[in-house]
Amino acid sequence: MAKELSDIGLIGLAVMGQNLALNIADHGFKISVFNRTTAKTDKFVAENPSNPGGLVGTKTVKAFVKSLAKPRKIIILVQAGRATDAVIDGLVPLLDQDDIIIDGGNALWTDTIRREKDLKAKGLRFIGSGVSGGEEGARFGPSLMPGGDKSAWKELKPIWNAIAAKVDRKTGRPLEGAAPGKPVKGGVPCTTHIGDNGAGHYVKMVHNGIEYGDMQMICEAYALMQGILGIKPKEMGEIFTQWNAGALDSYLIEITADILKQNDPTNKRKAFVDVVLDTAGQKGTGKWTSTNALDMGVPAPTIAESVFARCISAIKEERVAASKLLKGPKIKKTPAAKKKALIEAIRDALYCSKICSYAQGFQLMREAQKEYDWKLNFGQIAQIWRGGCIIRAAFLQKITEAYARDPKLANLLLDPYFNKTVKKAQDNWRKVVALAAECGVPAPTFSSSLAYYDSYRSARLPANLLQAQRDYFGAHTYERVDQKRGKFYHIDWPDPARPQLEM
Ligand code: 2AM
Repeated sequence: MAKELSDIGLIGLAVMGQNLALNIADHGFKISVFNRTTAKTDKFVAENPSNPGGLVGTKTVKAFVKSLAKPRKIIILVQAGRATDAVIDGLVPLLDQDDIIIDGGNALWTDTIRREKDLKAKGLRFIGSGVSGGEEGARFGPSLMPGGDKSAWKELKPIWNAIAAKVDRKTGRPLEGAAPGKPVKGGVPCTTHIGDNGAGHYVKMVHNGIEYGDMQMICEAYALMQGILGIKPKEMGEIFTQWNAGALDSYLIEITADILKQNDPTNKRKAFVDVVLDTAGQKGTGKWTSTNALDMGVPAPTIAESVFARCISAIKEERVAASKLLKGPKIKKTPAAKKKALIEAIRDALYCSKICSYAQGFQLMREAQKEYDWKLNFGQIAQIWRGGCIIRAAFLQKITEAYARDPKLANLLLDPYFNKTVKKAQDNWRKVVALAAECGVPAPTFSSSLAYYDSYRSARLPANLLQAQRDYFGAHTYERVDQKRGKFYHIDWPDPARPQLEM
């Protein structure tokens, strides 16, 4: 007999909402859907008549709420910010004690903390869940990062486990092959309870920051191969395909290879990338990650550089004007005999930079967990990013293994695998950064990652001089190398009795 009430409901039928609803129905859950514009609901339900669970279209929020089994589970997938608050405000008077609201949007984690607190005071449970994987992921298996009330997670878990991407238990490899009505069976779901209140949305934000870094690094590899080696898109696509068979195996490398091999649909003799205007957009999660790094005082320069790279790309007209006035060096063409070695060096530079970028992302999460009193499992976070999401990569398995070796690892660079990898590849990395500078090809994430690496491995940085400057102009005091930490000194500058340094 068909179930009368729905297992779960979803509000917001833009593409992500529609795909997530279909994914849920594919797994045999009955789902009610509601959208502010009813025509969209009607069209969606009419276009998807058969699925194992069943879609129930509703025309009012009241009818929607009434159609759900208790405790009600309601996913909201509307624009982050005011729209989410408006939908929550409309729902609250219609809900009963212990009902659960799940925000699947890209909410700012502090908004999630606020909403969870407000709803708890009203006897309602709230989960802020990161959903990554774009439209395809939502439809056939996203990576899901839920944070919030543990008892609510227990209720949601069977559905989230069912719809999430799956990876092989042993190797962590994504299990592919989901199709409409035919979900992947077995494997470990790419979801886990991340932590309390805003933890899920925080981790999703860092995921996006890391994604910004990954994308920019790939673009720098492309720019160097194009600028210094003169490699054409199609050939470069083959290089990325080869890279994808090794340690760099990842979704973003794979789609880059596809993109580079693609022709312009309007002129088949042209490469598609060559006709795309070089201005990148952004929605804000990379900026949030970088701002938060600055707020917490955590060094995340690679991620921040990738946001700035998008910013500078956006001022196209200014760059075009500047290009006529500001001269750089002439690019020395690399001789053909050195081409292969340079391509390998660029690959190494990309891999080392990637390690630094992830090290920064994980350090951010480590600091945030102190700030917000979360208990994050970093190995598990890397594991649920193995499948479904945009940064899915074989590399993440190495991170899971690193945290399995040492759950309290201070920095990924200190793990034996990553330490060894960087040690082996760093000559190439340095060569590429130096060559980029010499040729005037901008490589902001490659070079800032290298500066991060060199700073992090420095027992002594020039901040001694910096602190002395601060003491000079602002009486900010300084600590001494020959005294215990925490004792502060000051000189009355300029020191009239300054003893002359003996040379
Ligand atoms: P719409 O189709 O009526 O515009 C993404 O924009 C989704 O969020 C859409 O389904 C959109 O509904 C919905 N949405 C945006 N603002 C909303 C609001 N204030 N209340 C309810 N739904 C909203």
